[in-house]
This record gives sequence, structure tokens and C-alpha cells, in this order.
Amino acid sequence: MSDYIGTIISTMNSPSPSEINFVVSKGIVHRGQFIEADYPEGTLIALVTNVIKTNKYFERADSVKEFEAHGSALFEQFPTSEWEYLVAECKPLGVFANGRVQRSTFPPSPGARVRIASAENLKKFFNFDESSGLMVGSVQFHDVDVKLNLTKLLKKHLAVLSISGSGKSYFTSVLFEELLDRKKEHGRIACIVLDPHGEYSSFAEPAKKPFTDYSNRTRMVKGRNIRIAVSKLSVGILAGIIPGLSPAQKRDLEEVFGELREKMRKGKGPFDFKDVREAIQKSDKIKKNTKSALLGWLYELNGMRLFGKISSPSLTDLVRPGTLTVVDLSDIINIRKKQIIVSHFAKKLFDERRKKEVPPFLLVLEEAHQFCPEQAAKETAISRSIIRTIAREGRKFGASLCLISQRPVQLDTTALSQCNTKIILRVTNPYDLKHLAESAEALDQKSMDMITSLQVGEALIIGEAVNYPLFFKVRSRKSMPSKHEVSLEKAALDFEEAQSKRDSETEQFL
Ligand SMILES: Nc1ncnc2c1ncn2[C@@H]1O[C@H](COP(=O)(O)OP(=O)(O)O)[C@@H](O)[C@H]1O
Ligand SMILES: [Mg+2]
Repeated sequence: MSDYIGTIISTMNSPSPSEINFVVSKGIVHRGQFIEADYPEGTLIALVTNVIKTNKYFERADSVKEFEAHGSALFEQFPTSEWEYLVAECKPLGVFANGRVQRSTFPPSPGARVRIASAENLKKFFNFDESSGLMVGSVQFHDVDVKLNLTKLLKKHLAVLSISGSGKSYFTSVLFEELLDRKKEHGRIACIVLDPHGEYSSFAEPAKKPFTDYSNRTRMVKGRNIRIAVSKLSVGILAGIIPGLSPAQKRDLEEVFGELREKMRKGKGPFDFKDVREAIQKSDKIKKNTKSALLGWLYELNGMRLFGKISSPSLTDLVRPGTLTVVDLSDIINIRKKQIIVSHFAKKLFDERRKKEVPPFLLVLEEAHQFCPEQAAKETAISRSIIRTIAREGRKFGASLCLISQRPVQLDTTALSQCNTKIILRVTNPYDLKHLAESAEALDQKSMDMITSLQVGEALIIGEAVNYPLFFKVRSRKSMPSKHEVSLEKAALDFEEAQSKRDSETEQFL
């Protein structure tokens, strides 16, 4: 039995190196499916971009109208169903020849037969890493796992983009599972996620079947427990945190910090903002006006409850190969405080990685547009410069970024353009779509149309990790779903239950 499913037809513009059409002679074909055809150039791989049903009985509006007007349906009088057939429009992606993938530059002939693309060819075509790739999903309509090579996916950074609720955090959880489950001999990196909504806390909780337990490989850092050592802050960093610090004020602050550090070296131990303020008050070199401005700012910073004598927790202790560190920022409301923490961790990680004090890592940033905004004054984008630095230089050191955002337009172009692989889930906003099309030249209009109609859990991957843009279905997660995902009904029930429990307790007490 032959496995041919159709025959290439000749139309006005096809077959050409950029378009072929075939009539389906067996079974059905879906948009998004891959097909192949042998011809003298090699084996052509093409993506089905559209499927059209045709029937010559229904081609002419006036005759359909005429028949229906006489009270009888066309199909009752003529064998209309025998004349229905499918035409598939396809976009050639490349040609396998001599074991290599080449661009398609010459079309197959009309009359050439078409098959569903074989699993073997698809794996080769998309450069899947069969031995140790990260299995994040499957190719739709084909029984083929999407296994992405670690280096190609992460080394030059990753961006995960879509409207909210379409599966960004779900995909990222799947990615974490793959990274945590990785065998030592395949090379394990550390994962750190800066998590503004506490969506990844479930990784740290013990899980029972059917879920896989990742709690022994996950470390949690609660936002409220984070402290940053004042003695480690440079005046440059402080200038980034304090809006409108003048050069003269900066100099004075620098001097005070210098003196305090000198004392520290002489054995007085680390200092905090209280010590800095005392030193400013005592100083006879600083002008009165400057003093009160500096004291005011330091008072505000101290009020954030973020700074202390020593930094904790220590990242070098937390960040290990094959583990996930969740920095849960959900209990922090102040955006500046969150930015300072993101900036602190990112900088620390990058510095330690350059010194090889920590393993190669993937730093995941949820709500990346908040921490690395496109249009914002420096003072409201405290963490932007370090993220840009990692985006530009990280790959030399094994410091990878994963930027997650539902507003690609608001995400810093410098950082986004350094992300060589993009995972795009459903996007509907025309501005975001335009922005994506501009940032990824491989995206054509047909793919753009498909992005707007993606379902939850369906994704497009473009860039380094695959040869050609690929639509795939994200696999089911093994870890426990996040509490974040509780339905509104359940949240309302929980509330009322807790309330009635409280009420009955009060009654008993009285
Ligand atoms: N691949 C998937 N398979 C099954 N359910 C999914 C998948 N991706 C997302 N979901 C569900 O869709 C909802 C939104 O997903 P989420 O990852 O939180 O979206 P986002 O982070 O983009 O806002 C969640 O309830 C999640 O369980
Ligand atoms: Mg999310």
C-alpha cells in the first residue's frame, strides 16, 4: 500500500520554491501538518498553511440559488458529495539532500506525489536533540516529541511571550521539570526564578502521586526575608536607587561610605544605614542642606526593611546544579523594592558566575516588562541595566536569561533582541503582533495569523533552538499545579468556609 496522500497540482503561482498546492487523494490534512515529496533535488519538506474544500457543484452562486429556489437541495439530485475534495496550500521549508537541509530554491513538478512527513525527517529537519534534549512538547498532528538542545535553547537567552492566561508560566514549569530531571552526565545547570506572583512556590511543596515531587530539589526564598548588605552597595548602585542624587551629594556619600569601609577593614565589622546616617550627621565636611537631603533618602531606604549589615540568604549556597531557587516576591508590593531585589540577585549571580563561584544558570524573570521596561526613566528602571548586561554578555559565561512577558511592546528592545529563541503563545494585541513580526524576521503573515488563533498550551518556537518556526503542543506538567490556578469558585468557597469556622470559634469562645 502506498503512503501517498495527494498529488501536487499546477495553479497560477505554484508550484514554486515558496508555494505548492496539492489535492488530497487519501484521508484528511490539517493546517499545521508537515508533508514531504521526493523529486530530483531531494526530499522537500513543506508546512500545510491552509486547507480548502472545493466542490464544482457549488461554485456558481446563480445555479445554487436557482436549484434551492425550486425547493430541492442540490445534493438530492446530483452526486455532489462525490465531487467534494480538499486542496492543501503549503509553504516549502527546505530540502533534504545528501543528508543536509538546504533552502528550497526549485519546485517539484505538478503531478509529484506527496506523503505525510516522516518522524525521522521532522526530527532531523528541526534539529531535535534525541539523546539529551529538553522534551517540552510534541509536534501537532505528528507523533514526534519536541526535544530541544540545551545550548541552542538557552545559551543565547530565551523569551516567552503571549497574552496572560495562555500558558507562559505553565510552559516555564515544564522547562524547569526538564532541567531538574536532567542527568548529571548530560550537564545540569541551576535555575533561579524571580517570581512576583508566587506561582512557582508549588515546586517547593512535597507532592504525592500523580505529581512528581520536586521539593527536595527546590529552595524557596521569601521576599520579606531578603536582606542586602549596605557595605556591599556601591554609590553607583545607590544613585540608581535614589532618584535625583546630585553629583555633589554623590561625592559626599561616597566619602562617608569610604570612611565606613575603612573602619570595617580595621575590624569594626559591617555597617548598615543607621551607621551611615550617624556618620553623615557627625561629619563636618558635608553642607547642611546636603545632610538633610541625604538623611531623608536614607531614612526612606531604611524604611523598606531590605537593607542590613550582611546579605542573606547567600546565593552561592542556594544555587546548585540541577536545582531550582524560587525567589518569591509576592509579599512585596513596592515595585522599587522588587526592582532592587531583582537587580541585586541578577548582579550577584552574574558576578559570581564570572568568577565561577556558581554553576552555569538560567535566570527566569516573570513580568520582565516591569523589571526591564522599554520606556522608563532610569530611576524607575533600577534593574534594567544589569538585565541588559546579562543579555549582552551572559552567553560568554554560561549566564542565561529567560524573559517572560505579556507585553512585548513594553519590554526593553535591547534585551529582547538578544533573546535568540522565542516561544510565542497566543497573542492578539495588534501592537504586540507587529512588534513580534519586526523582532523575528522568520515570521511571515501566515504564521502571524496562526498566532492569533492559538489555543491555551499551543506555542510557536522561533530561533536558534529549531531550524524553522515550529508550532507545537506544550506537554502536560508533572509537577503540582500552582495554587495561583485555583478557580474563582474555589477561592470564594474557601473564603466562606474559613469565615464560618471563625464565626463558630468565636461563638464557642463567648
Ligand atoms: N500546556 C497546557 N496544558 C494544559 N493546561 C494549560 C497549559 N498551558 C496553560 N494551561 C492552563 O491555562 C491556565 C493559564 O496558564 P498560565 O501558565 O498561568 O498562563 P500565563 O502565565 O500565560 O498567564 C492555567 O490554568 C493552566 O493550567
Ligand atoms: Mg504567568
